[in-house]
Amino acid sequence: KDSNNNTAAGGGSENKLIVVGFSQVGAESDWRTANSQSMKDTFTEANGYKLIFDDAQGKQDNQITAIRNFIQQEVDYIVVAPIGETGWDTVLQEAKDAGIPVIIVDRMIDVAKDDLFYCWVGSDFRKEGDVAVAWMDKELAGKDEVKIVHLQGTIGSSAQIGRTEGLEAGEKAHSNWEIVAQQTGEFTQAKGQEVMESILKQTTDIDVVYCENDNMAFGAIDAIEAAGMKAGVGGDIVVVSFDATNAGLTMTLDQKINYNVECNPLHGPRVAKLIEQIEAGQIPEKLAYVEEKAFDAREMTKEILDARSY
Ligand code: AHR
Repeated sequence: KDSNNNTAAGGGSENKLIVVGFSQVGAESDWRTANSQSMKDTFTEANGYKLIFDDAQGKQDNQITAIRNFIQQEVDYIVVAPIGETGWDTVLQEAKDAGIPVIIVDRMIDVAKDDLFYCWVGSDFRKEGDVAVAWMDKELAGKDEVKIVHLQGTIGSSAQIGRTEGLEAGEKAHSNWEIVAQQTGEFTQAKGQEVMESILKQTTDIDVVYCENDNMAFGAIDAIEAAGMKAGVGGDIVVVSFDATNAGLTMTLDQKINYNVECNPLHGPRVAKLIEQIEAGQIPEKLAYVEEKAFDAREMTKEILDARSY
């Protein structure tokens, strides 16, 4: 990386701070809010950092502009939580040419040469989808037919791609499963509710709603209840969700979400550790997957919920 005088961590004086430019997706979900907070709590002056935080408001073009601004400002590190997987080659080549290490966090990117980023830490989204499908396989065994509504996240994001691949593989493996509707709710509660409402106007013959995050599950549950039906354990429609945020686990404890697959947003300390390794002249692992759990409503406890800080 380019040397400048801002490389020593741990000091309090301005000229020793490590400058990190962070391009964040937006604020579409509770998960995202927790992720932004984790970064802000970690990259503080007290910890030896100056954080330049940029909220792309859901637009990848804004992320590309932010990265170019970080390059102009000669930051020490660029951290990107990418919206989509593709479209990064040119701007990351510019960062590489400027000698600024780029760390990718949360979702993955698809680039022609993997030396365009230094390292990545995040979730195995395909595995998350497979975990949900394995639970559905057991839970729905014995049913003649399983009609599934699929609320997808932001199309082209690895969180959407992996969780969708998991469900579609599950549908292929079960001759009695059918995805009867598949539409994006863009990872937001409002859009999840709107999409579910419009699907329920066409059919109420639905066994499962597979929501690719908690916020869309909240919207779907509101739509199901507004249609006079019951969501969750012992209800009309089984709800599968992802993230397992505090609000998501509250709904799981309330038995409105049947199964919730964790996606961990606390990446601040993980990214800081990668930077510390680079600063110490070590080469961190190129890809680091975070360990994640899943929660069945029937096994949820108040203790599990209370331990969930975000
Ligand atoms: O990339 C992680 C996903 O993005 C989370 O599941 C979702 O809630 C967020 O917006």
